[in-house]
Amino acid sequence: MQTRKIGPFEVSAIGLGCMNLSWGYGTPPSREVAERVLLGALDAGYTHFDTAALYGLGHNEKLIGEVLGPHRDRFMLASKCGVSNNGRRELNGDPAVLKATCELSLQQLKTDVIDLYYLHRWDRRVPIEDSVGALADLVREGKIRTIGLSEISAATLRRAHAVHPITALQTEYSPWTRNPEVAVLEACRELGTAFVAFSPVGRGFLAGRVSADHIFEDTDIRKTMPRFQGEDFAANLKVLDAFKALAAEAACTPAQLCMAWLLAKGDDIIPIPGTTNPDHMVENARSAQVALSPELLARIEATVNARTVHGHRYSEAMRIPIDTEELAT
Ligand SMILES: NC(=O)c1ccc[n+]([C@@H]2O[C@H](COP(=O)([O-])OP(=O)(O)OC[C@H]3O[C@@H](n4cnc5c(N)ncnc54)[C@H](OP(=O)(O)O)[C@@H]3O)[C@@H](O)[C@H]2O)c1
Repeated sequence: MQTRKIGPFEVSAIGLGCMNLSWGYGTPPSREVAERVLLGALDAGYTHFDTAALYGLGHNEKLIGEVLGPHRDRFMLASKCGVSNNGRRELNGDPAVLKATCELSLQQLKTDVIDLYYLHRWDRRVPIEDSVGALADLVREGKIRTIGLSEISAATLRRAHAVHPITALQTEYSPWTRNPEVAVLEACRELGTAFVAFSPVGRGFLAGRVSADHIFEDTDIRKTMPRFQGEDFAANLKVLDAFKALAAEAACTPAQLCMAWLLAKGDDIIPIPGTTNPDHMVENARSAQVALSPELLARIEATVNARTVHGHRYSEAMRIPIDTEELAT
């Protein structure tokens, strides 16, 4: 696969988001399937794996440690702290909690050092300078190599960067979620911070995986997300039809069109699609080979944008720790 830079790391242009192997969109896959996705990803050329202490409250980090631990020198490992505390879900940016979470993550991941360690969300009770200061201590102690932030505004990124260089910013970005275009991408480029795009296929929606009669399991976080509800969902399905037609024109799948669009938006953008399906994992890797003309890029953006997509990306409850500039939808 072609590569891109994240700070000192040269990584595959498409990274693997590992969350779904433990949690997120209903019942996770069996251990056997999860192993096929993870080990198959190494064979398919992925060299960037993204996890978090939060995902399955330790399950995801343990899975990666057990399955990929023997291959640790073949990939860049990213994990996150700040929304769990000693194996419990809790927004907590206290420096001592972040450091304890890192210790637990190192054990679970079966590694001596995490390459890229993100603050998953900013806990506003703690100045960003203090939380990033704790991560800077971890860099000095050799427990993590670089620092990232997730779902942070341009202003907060600048404050954090003044404490310690921020190697990557991870935020939702896809044709149907364009918030980073307001200010964050510009700030990243000014500071030399790579942009990691999470939920690049709109949590499955833009791959055409969720039909009008889809019944979400209780453990599926999309069950409460406005874009997947009622009239907003119905309106979004019409946008999806047009998006699928554009993918056919580009001779790729709709999921691949998402990644190709992101890659075309800048060589500092690294999408991390998540999947529980070994075939989708390979399909997503191949999206790095899809070239889009400027004319098709413009039509994608005219078709899917903040005016045509209906509903906020998160429910009210999930928005509380978000610090990003949000487009009104
Ligand atoms: N920093 C944060 O706060 C944050 C938040 C969310 C996610 N993330 C990270 O970003 C990663 C990806 O985000 P995400 O999983 O939320 O969203 P996503 O990648 O946009 O979508 C995942 C969904 O898309 C489906 N999918 C993926 N590739 C497909 C393909 N080629 N064809 C058909 N369906 C496909 C998957 O179903 P199948 O399993 O059937 O393929 C899954 O349901 C996560 O794993 C996690 O590492 C970070």
